[in-house]
Amino acid sequence: RPKVTIQTLQALKESRVPITMLTAYDYPTAVSCSSTPSIDITLVGDSLAQVCLGYKSTTQLTLDEMIHHAKAVSRGTTHPFLVADMPFGSYSGSMDDAVNNAVRMVRESQIEAVKLEGGEEIADLVRRLTSIGIPVMAHIGLMPQRHVALSGYKVQGRNVASAKALVRTASVLEEAGAFSMVLEAVPKELGRYITEKIAVPTIGIGAGPWTNGQVLVWDDAMGTWLGHKAKFVRRFANLQIARETGVQSFANAVKDGSFPDPQRESYTIDPAEWARFM
Ligand code: KIV
Ligand code: NA
Repeated sequence: RPKVTIQTLQALKESRVPITMLTAYDYPTAVSCSSTPSIDITLVGDSLAQVCLGYKSTTQLTLDEMIHHAKAVSRGTTHPFLVADMPFGSYSGSMDDAVNNAVRMVRESQIEAVKLEGGEEIADLVRRLTSIGIPVMAHIGLMPQRHVALSGYKVQGRNVASAKALVRTASVLEEAGAFSMVLEAVPKELGRYITEKIAVPTIGIGAGPWTNGQVLVWDDAMGTWLGHKAKFVRRFANLQIARETGVQSFANAVKDGSFPDPQRESYTIDPAEWARFM
């Protein structure tokens, strides 16, 4: 499949073909995301912090750590459009610092766009990055980088005031130049309303079936992680069980002496050489 572009994504929205996005954090997961033409976008999500690096929250992830992983994802990515999250704190200081950090992500990792959590307060930054050729995917609704300020990982836009605020935010960020928008943990009715209201593609996670696309965290979707499962998660594979079974089988085979097999899994030396050696 030819490289997916912003134009491709816009055309998918216009023709009502659902957009698929999955996260990846390293070379092998990136290769898997590229293994079918049916995946449109690979996201190096800052969920990297929890599912890959064992941190408690995305607020612990540094820019250098994100770049390190995004480089690996980039090396394994073929046709999917490649987006990476700007980590917490890397776009909240001065405009110049934020721009420099975004430029570092593009230059060092070869990602194609950045994703930013935030509302009207980031509109100027979205405008600036877009103007210098760094496309921005906005991320509104539940913003995990702000879980403390939001008093937890909660559904957003459940009352009139907050639903209206979210609709306004979506329009402001679209107007600022965002080429696409993630809607996280909002009522399905609001997911549909915003999707119809704005012209750029919406990608939902816990935003119902009527957004232009769907995204899941790799480890939630593949079951490489059997901890807390949010309401919006569906497990499409059970890799944790598969790999723990593999670990147990390896250990059993070594402990009972059946691995390695002297014939099939071992090297040998020419008997004449061995006789002289002895
Ligand atoms: O960090 C992440 O994985 C994300 C997606 C779930 C949208 O932001
Ligand atoms: Na994220």
